[in-house]
Amino acid sequence: MAPDLDVLVVGSGVAGLSLAVRLADSSLRVGVLTKAELSQSTTRWAQGGVAAVLGGDEDSVDLHHADTLAAGAGLCDVEAVRVLVAEGPDRVHELVALGAVFDIEAGGSLALAREGGHSTARIVHAGGAATGAEVERALVAALHRGAAAVLEHWFAVDLVLDAGRCTGVVARDPQGNVRQVAARHVVVATGGVGQLYAVTTNPAEATGDGVAMALRSRVPVADVEFVQFHPTALHHPAMPRPLLSEALRGHGALLRDASGDRFVDELAPRDVVSRAMADRMADQGVDHLWLDATALEGFDDRFPTLAASVRAAGLDPATDWFPIAPAAHHVSGGICTDLDGASALPGLWAVGEAACTGVHGANRLASNSLLEGMVFGARAAEAIAAGRDGPVPTGALAAVLPGEGSTAGEGSTAGGAGRIAGRVPAVGVDGVTLPDWAAGADPATAPPARGSDPEPDEPADWEKWRDRVQRAMTDGAGVVRSPASLRRAATTLGAAARALDASASASDDPSVARAAAEVRNLVTVGWAVLRAAVAREETRGAHTRRDHPGPEDRWRLRLVHGDLAGGSVPASGGISPAGKGKVGP
Ligand code: SIN
Repeated sequence: MAPDLDVLVVGSGVAGLSLAVRLADSSLRVGVLTKAELSQSTTRWAQGGVAAVLGGDEDSVDLHHADTLAAGAGLCDVEAVRVLVAEGPDRVHELVALGAVFDIEAGGSLALAREGGHSTARIVHAGGAATGAEVERALVAALHRGAAAVLEHWFAVDLVLDAGRCTGVVARDPQGNVRQVAARHVVVATGGVGQLYAVTTNPAEATGDGVAMALRSRVPVADVEFVQFHPTALHHPAMPRPLLSEALRGHGALLRDASGDRFVDELAPRDVVSRAMADRMADQGVDHLWLDATALEGFDDRFPTLAASVRAAGLDPATDWFPIAPAAHHVSGGICTDLDGASALPGLWAVGEAACTGVHGANRLASNSLLEGMVFGARAAEAIAAGRDGPVPTGALAAVLPGEGSTAGEGSTAGGAGRIAGRVPAVGVDGVTLPDWAAGADPATAPPARGSDPEPDEPADWEKWRDRVQRAMTDGAGVVRSPASLRRAATTLGAAARALDASASASDDPSVARAAAEVRNLVTVGWAVLRAAVAREETRGAHTRRDHPGPEDRWRLRLVHGDLAGGSVPASGGISPAGKGKVGP
């Protein structure tokens, strides 16, 4: 029996659980719905820790703010970043009070590591490089003490909308029955979409379910073209790819090419390093490079999880370089929210990787994502508990809702630059339009498959479709993109969209229904990534266009899918500035 709730949290990573745990002592009935077990979230896989200003005379929240803006390549929301860095330290202390155990120095203070893009050491870790697992453990234990309902192995299929607000979700229960779960507030905390790619550090569950639901309901979603690739995933058949934490480079590990030469600043932001690696691999005709940690002292003591992982792959950290290649890791964008996690649709909230708060801009600073989940999960909880209902024009939503406008960070300055949103325009590659079929256009109008890209024989073979979509996105919309590569990916996703359409009648078998729903979600989000990646004719942050090698001022705007509120945007045509003021073309 599906319970009626005040708050339904969909997803059980750090952001959703931070929210649910904070509401546990309130009078609200809070439920958590997750498609696997509570602890099976992407959070569990996060190695790198939580970036927060917790000590060290040379550090300050201003410095953390500046580093975050610099990594975000001109698209961060300055206020959202301020909230993140200012409130982060208290959230870490609360997590410690809840029972999370972080690594400490001999003298008892928190051990702080340095990662790419950070001016100083400010990352707290647990178990060397098992931070996410420790955070998840502490939150799951706390949740069990206070939730009204925990719905494990339930799959949220779509949002329920009624009279202009979100009133719940349609979901499949563990037996495959279709149910409605009603709630006054629905919080999307479903994480990222690493499974769009054949090589990823994300678990099999990361299929962008919440963002796909929002796209289908035309709720504003932005910045999804900024898919961040982690530079140092172990080049190894295991999936998700074992990650070699950036903290290794923070402690002095070096990147080496096929000739053994260094070629990039190991502590540059992640987009810079991944791009340099992709270029070097293309130049040298290789599919991996090397991470040299042989000079690191106390590897096994400081990084026990990584030591076990590389030894399991037959590597000795004292003598062997580790084979590495970039892997899809994190998406900067998601459902546009205000500074308290409210989306443009009353009753719908989004937190964590599923949200676009504006803190990451075009490229997330390392170890800011667990922090984002903790900070904005807590803020959403406080806002809901205080009776807030509906969005206000702050954070990423300031660029979408009519109102006073948001500011975009430029480089390491805190200067603003007016409003920064525009609707994804009608785009095409090679003369083929990419229709917005996720929002109602007929999938039959998606680009036709070509002879070189045959469709699987069996339209409803979801494993084959998943695999094909992942390979198409890896080849076409990976670290480096071009019109031709994006067109190839669009062709395959178009074929997938038509196959999905043709087999719309869902299976009674719960596992087949779930597999089909996940592919549908991957294609929905992948299509949004492609449309924005085609439209954005520049290189900025995690979006690299071979044909447009640098950032361009006219593209310093957030590309928004779905409906912009206030009716200020024409139904079609070019990029349209939202609300008052104008930054885009
Ligand atoms: C890492 O440890 O390198 C991952 C940290 C992150 O993705 O923020």
